[in-house]
Amino acid sequence: MKALILSGGKGSRLYPLTYTNAKQLIPVANKPVLFRVIEAIHDAGIDDMGIVIGSGENGRKVRAAVGDGGRWGVKITYIVQDEPKGLAHAVLIARDYLSDDRFVMFLGDNVIEGGISDLIREFETSDYNSQIVLTRVAEPKHYGVAELNPDGSIKQLVEKPRQPKSDLALVGIYMFDEHVHEAVRSIKPSWRGELEITDAIQWLVDAGYHVHPYIHRGWWIDTGKPIDMLAANSKVLEELTPRIDGFVDKDSEVDERVTVEPGAQIINSVVRGPTIIGENTRIINSYVGPFTSIYHDCLIEDAEIEHCIMLEHSQISDVDARITDSLIGRNVVISRSELKPRALKLTIGDNSRVGLI
Ligand code: TTP
Repeated sequence: MKALILSGGKGSRLYPLTYTNAKQLIPVANKPVLFRVIEAIHDAGIDDMGIVIGSGENGRKVRAAVGDGGRWGVKITYIVQDEPKGLAHAVLIARDYLSDDRFVMFLGDNVIEGGISDLIREFETSDYNSQIVLTRVAEPKHYGVAELNPDGSIKQLVEKPRQPKSDLALVGIYMFDEHVHEAVRSIKPSWRGELEITDAIQWLVDAGYHVHPYIHRGWWIDTGKPIDMLAANSKVLEELTPRIDGFVDKDSEVDERVTVEPGAQIINSVVRGPTIIGENTRIINSYVGPFTSIYHDCLIEDAEIEHCIMLEHSQISDVDARITDSLIGRNVVISRSELKPRALKLTIGDNSRVGLI
């Protein structure tokens, strides 16, 4: 089997972070989501992977970060999508790479509990033409939704229905055989101008192909929005086996579920887990609360932070208010200013969001 990982798209719901970086490269628990996807596929025994990337800077960033896959012992083929014209469009342009092989398609911004080995095994040893993964969600109208027949087979798939007929949402992992290629060639763009994978799967169902619904019972998160990114970060941090490879001084209080990466220093601070402190990051006279990931080469001094993701080379210093529920980009400086007038002085990118007290 092969794998097709979708790492194009605009990532507009994560602006401004995604102006300068692909959303799939934003780390949860200090590892890019895309790397977690590659590892999950590799763990399921698939080493031949195609990655769909955009034609712009973010695509180049993905290429630079993942390379030829040698780090994981896998072979990576890049497929450039000129514009994000939909998930089924990504399958369409990957035709040559995929050939007539069975494959798993995995959205590069999705995180799933427990990996995909069981799913892959079930599909590999079956004669299903396709297998889709469904999970129960609280607000199905935001997802692709499946309505099942009384015998458990698929009746209908609808993308973001106004009045959902079930609470079973499509998780961003799909398995197909070669018949999907006829499906993606046959469907037309939706009202939003995209070739929808739900329409391609519906086409398979209508044509009488066997599409098997697999109900996933663990957690699954699509990291499309900041709040989802933080939720994925929290879930993955909870599963991390803690390790202290950096330095913690005797005046600090670091609880059991904290990972301190090599070269990191915790000085006169309180760190509560689950939390990860990245390589060469310094935490000085500060409080780092649960569900926080601080990436490498950051500085937090005389400040408090909790339930956040902070990217590399950023710093927070001498700030009274506790910073929570935030995504902080790269090379960001948040500090107290002694310059008069006493006021908030901001240099922030387009589409940023700042919550003041
Ligand atoms: P989405 O989250 O649906 O789209 P997006 O990444 O453009 O984000 P936004 O809505 O915030 O602008 O995409 C799901 C995944 O599929 C994501 O990893 C990007 C990828 N993708 C492609 O590779 N090509 C595409 O044409 C589309 C639509 C998405």
